[in-house]
Amino acid sequence: MPLGSLVVISALVCATSAALTRRAVPCPDGVHSATHPACCALYPIVDHIQQNLFDGGECDDEVHESLRLTFHDAIGFSLSQGPSGGGGADGSIMSFSDTELQFSANGGLDDIVKMQEQCLSECGGNGVVSPGDFIQLAGAVGVSNCPGAPRLKFLLGRPNATAPAPDKLVPAPTDSTDVIFARFADAGFNTDEVVALLASHSIASSKVLNPSMVGAPFDTTPELFDTQFFVEELLRPRGFHGTELQSGQTDSPIEGEMRIMSDSLIARDSRTSCTWQSFINNQARMADAFGQAMAKLAVLGQDTSKMIDCSEVIPQPKSLPVEHSQSVFPPGFSNADVEQACSATPFPKLSTLPGPVTPVPPVPS
Ligand code: HEM
Ligand SMILES: *[C@@H]1O[C@H](CO)[C@@H](O)[C@H](O)[C@H]1NC(C)=O
Repeated sequence: MPLGSLVVISALVCATSAALTRRAVPCPDGVHSATHPACCALYPIVDHIQQNLFDGGECDDEVHESLRLTFHDAIGFSLSQGPSGGGGADGSIMSFSDTELQFSANGGLDDIVKMQEQCLSECGGNGVVSPGDFIQLAGAVGVSNCPGAPRLKFLLGRPNATAPAPDKLVPAPTDSTDVIFARFADAGFNTDEVVALLASHSIASSKVLNPSMVGAPFDTTPELFDTQFFVEELLRPRGFHGTELQSGQTDSPIEGEMRIMSDSLIARDSRTSCTWQSFINNQARMADAFGQAMAKLAVLGQDTSKMIDCSEVIPQPKSLPVEHSQSVFPPGFSNADVEQACSATPFPKLSTLPGPVTPVPPVPS
């Protein structure tokens, strides 16, 4: 190849990458930089969120609740019902909290909505971010505190909500998989994306489902965004739970662990069981799929052509501690406890953590 054509090729490559890489300009604060000047105003809000909502940057109960809130706001959106089917990720769950927090599927969100409202007004956020922006921003910042999580995107510019979302759009743990998959399809998500979004239950506990299990985590590591949720959900019940199961709950063999009926069914449904299993011992695959599905969820019902990509304000998440980099069976469990649901591929080979069988403690609130 003559030298001339090499020069042309490399010039083309440079031009393309320059177009793809947006240049960051310094912010007036002299500390940060941003690809769009409007993003600069978010840095102090992010700091305020970390200090006042998340205890200085923990993956704590408020982070879990804030992530749940991103979903319960956004899923108020229906393709089939048109504009009257909710505004999606528009902050209506905060702006119209008197209405939406009465919906039974929104039980347990009162405290976090109040805390976020206060945080929004105290951090100078009013006028900079709408309630819809704030909910997604807090969720993305919060998730970044959980080791193993992907760095979620954040787009700025959701208008104020104009109406509450209708009731019955948020899925319930008592719903069948048919009902849940249809509800998600009506919001624009396929079944693989449903499974990906459920990685959120890796950093979760229950507050209201069973009054005698307040704080019960969904997996043994609720402070880590890891794949344990996908393993533990498939373990066969041993029937030693001490409390009566509530409607929407099924038995977990791990004492103190919450297992909701819908997760248990989705893990075993032939439409989703292989995607479910594919996340086990594949942290990168799970985190990536979750990040992509969350990017969609966070802008449901919004016109993204009018929004500004401020993803650079989201902190870089910590990676998982090395001792948690592989999926494991909790102490006392092995492959014999797995209720194999995916028929296409065998269950991954995992080792068992040493030590006695112990109950999992509740998440401190
Ligand atoms: C199939 C659809 C889903 C159902 C039926 C469902 C149901 C539930 C239930 C029943 C709880 C416990 C509530 C309580 O007792 O306090 C819960 C907690 C939670 N959910 Fe979901 N969920 C679904 C999907 C999602 C999605 C898509 C996300 C986020 C992307 C999410 C994030 C969370 C989080 C983070 C918690 C824990 C909240 C905390 O620790 O306070 N869920 N979910
Ligand atoms: C949106 O609502 C907030 C109160 O939540 C208000 O301060 C703000 O002015 C409203 N913005 C617009 C553009 O109406």
